[in-house]
Amino acid sequence: MKNLLSLCGAACAALLLAAPIGATEQERITNLADVPEDFEFYPLPPGEGVDEVYYGCIACHSLRTVTNGGYSRAVWDELLDWMVEDQGMMEPEPEIREIMLEYLSIHIGEDWQG
Ligand code: HEC
Repeated sequence: MKNLLSLCGAACAALLLAAPIGATEQERITNLADVPEDFEFYPLPPGEGVDEVYYGCIACHSLRTVTNGGYSRAVWDELLDWMVEDQGMMEPEPEIREIMLEYLSIHIGEDWQG
């Protein structure tokens, strides 16, 4: 990183920093119809934490239950509590819960169309 920066200066730094953000934004699928049916975690859209959500939620119901509606982070937060308190979901480790909540609020957020 340091060598690259000294080679091409601020313009390269801006490109290097911007690239991963741009790529993530481009790849984010916001519509169930665009999730490839051969994706191993279908119908969940790809993203960091998709495996945690897949295996954490499939024990009791279809993942379509999860992709039916897109919610804000606050609503997913409450839904996770509700799964644990009233639906018998095993309480996830705090860091796993955070990964799930991040995934759900980013990838199945309010702009999601299930
Ligand atoms: C131990 C079983 C169990 C697990 C694990 C579980 N759920 Fe559920 N979930 C349920 C049951 C039962 C219902 C149906 C409740 C009802 O409609 O009365 C439900 C319903 C839902 C609903 C629909 C809520 C609504 O508005 O009707 C959502 C969304 C949901 N679950 C999300 C999740 C997510 C996300 C996970 C994984 C992080 C998860 N669930 C894991 C048992 C579980």
